[in-house]
Amino acid sequence: MRYLPLNPEIFIQNRQRFISRMDKNAIAIFNSNDELPTNGDQLHKFKQNADLFWLTGIEQEDSMLVLFPGNPDPKYREVLVLVRPNELKEKWDGHRLRVHEARAISGIQTIVWLDSLDGMLQPWIHLADTIYLNSNENDRKANSVPVRDYRYAEMMRQRYPMHQFKRSARILKDLRAIKSALEIEVLQKAIDITDNTLRRLLKFIRPGVMEYEIEAEIYHSFLSQRSSGPGYGSIIASGDSARILHYVENNRECKDGDLILMDFGAEYGNYNADLTRTIPVNGKFTRRQKTVYNACLHLHHYAASILKPGISIVDYTEKVGDEATVVFQKIGLLKKSDIKNEDPENRAYRRYLYHGISHHLGIDVHDLGTRTEPIKAGMVFTIEPGIYIEEEQMGIRIENNFWITRNGNKDLMKNIPITVEEIEALMKR
Ligand code: GLY
Ligand code: MN
Repeated sequence: MRYLPLNPEIFIQNRQRFISRMDKNAIAIFNSNDELPTNGDQLHKFKQNADLFWLTGIEQEDSMLVLFPGNPDPKYREVLVLVRPNELKEKWDGHRLRVHEARAISGIQTIVWLDSLDGMLQPWIHLADTIYLNSNENDRKANSVPVRDYRYAEMMRQRYPMHQFKRSARILKDLRAIKSALEIEVLQKAIDITDNTLRRLLKFIRPGVMEYEIEAEIYHSFLSQRSSGPGYGSIIASGDSARILHYVENNRECKDGDLILMDFGAEYGNYNADLTRTIPVNGKFTRRQKTVYNACLHLHHYAASILKPGISIVDYTEKVGDEATVVFQKIGLLKKSDIKNEDPENRAYRRYLYHGISHHLGIDVHDLGTRTEPIKAGMVFTIEPGIYIEEEQMGIRIENNFWITRNGNKDLMKNIPITVEEIEALMKR
């Protein structure tokens, strides 16, 4: 890892929160993700299971966590399982965690090697009535790949057919959505790296530059600041490509007079920033670009004024849609008749704004959390309205990250330039 050591208290608190929600006399087992092959003997870059990371801070492959708060032997109430360091593997793949290192990262005192787990786990399971197993219940994407959590669950249900099984994901969905102050410190670091990077881009971008050159600048800036890289594929979309929501080709030349939409964010300590700015390639907005940009910024501020505890994402999105309807009329996109006859299931404004306004943000860019219950203090959301106009070959999106407080929210990106004036001033040569 490149980031500076995180405070193990993050993971100690997270485990305490999880344990407090477990049934009596239950054991919970968490697995790391699979190492995924590409071709030949190559592997994709390893990405730790977000839940296991959230509970332990451990990024190493083949790790496990066992929580059994009722274990009669207090030493084994919290157990971190790691692969036994192996000289040959270390010659090829590098250093693997030793006991004292894993303790320092996770705050877990008992470390067991994976090759000796089976004999220990069986008697613990015999003492427990309920087994919590994990599953990916992020409801933004159907998961059809039989990943390790599901294979493990199948094996455990066969091996222990008389036990009661429960889903850890039910608990994690509530808990991971609420971020502690210590987690926000790490996220803020990811945001600050992203902020520095945008400022660098405002100096770098000019007519003739290629979108992939901008992407390369982002990598350079992120890696030089101890980020492990972009938290998701950077979207560097000039001109009409900005209307493609997840455009990651990034292979076009940036043209004089065009806007460029850049959606990128650093990953630091496994937490992700998610920023979008849309700027003029030549450093100066045209009058029309400025009008549409300011309409989008108005929606952004309006959304920020209502994103607070109590409202549900569904109601919030509907309200932002009401405001978008008014704004889109003002800038000449919608006519009264479009609105009068609109289909409530597919409102008129959606022709120009065809995605959600906010998503949970954290260890996963589209983080785990409920989308149907009222928003609560401690959650982190993006706010990212956009305006995409096919007739004008233009797309604008403005995105910041917000921590929900008791009465409102805190803009974690408040230092990042956002107004037309700030952007133009920083692009001046
Ligand atoms: N940052 C890309 C997205 O939110 O979908
Ligand atoms: Mn986003």
